Amino acid sequence: MSDAQTAPAKSTPAQQVATGDRAILPEGAKTIPIYVMGKKYEVPETLTIMKAMEFAGFKFLRGCGCRGGICGACPTVYRKEGDYKLHFGLACQTVVEPNMYLAQIPFYPANRAGYSLDEIEPTAEAIFALYPELFRCVACNNCTKACPMGVQVLDYISALKQGDIAKAAKLSFDCIQCGLCASRCMGELPQYHIAQLARRIYGKYIQPHADHLAKRVAEIESGKYDEILGKLTEMSKDELAKLYKEREREPDLAPLGTWMPQDTQYL
Ligand code: FES
Repeated sequence: MSDAQTAPAKSTPAQQVATGDRAILPEGAKTIPIYVMGKKYEVPETLTIMKAMEFAGFKFLRGCGCRGGICGACPTVYRKEGDYKLHFGLACQTVVEPNMYLAQIPFYPANRAGYSLDEIEPTAEAIFALYPELFRCVACNNCTKACPMGVQVLDYISALKQGDIAKAAKLSFDCIQCGLCASRCMGELPQYHIAQLARRIYGKYIQPHADHLAKRVAEIESGKYDEILGKLTEMSKDELAKLYKEREREPDLAPLGTWMPQDTQYL
């Protein structure tokens, strides 16, 4: 680690940015110093890490997707001033703090097994065969500590080791595949890929099937909605907005399961 990463350099002038309107601050806005890859930048204190980096002149070509905490493209590792701990977060969700030392880890290489879900045996043994490194887990819990979604990673790995696919699928449901768990794993497990396989097996073979979903899929495939979808895609933005505003809405206080729209042709 360089000196620039271990201590804020008080004498280092803040990076001057002049990249279009990103350089224009609201009146009275307070700025704070952050460090991106060891270099100091002054950014508004209210921004997320992602917006602060853009304010500082960085342009995201990779490592940015939904901007809503869903896609897992923006995992970030940082330390805070005077704190020995590593912290983890999503750049699009985490607000900057003074003297953060930031590094983006938009992709982390991890083993990903090849399989056909249609041909796989829906058993824990099939998962063990595809990911034998599962048993290299030493239960250090670094994976859970690194997860920006609060997923109990070690718990789902332990459930899988005990053969409980359903429990692993449920415990890992909030995973957004950012890969930070794998980046910290002493056993070099690709936890997020293993959990994805568990959820796929659970969804296809274990979870009770919803008959109404199969019925709706069949209706879609038969073309029931083609005409209305065609009309919608040809509408202008204003027409769509009007249609949206005038749509039938379920009353906020309707007793559960009692409300039905007047127009049921698309149900
Ligand atoms: S950009 Fe998608 S989770 Fe941050």
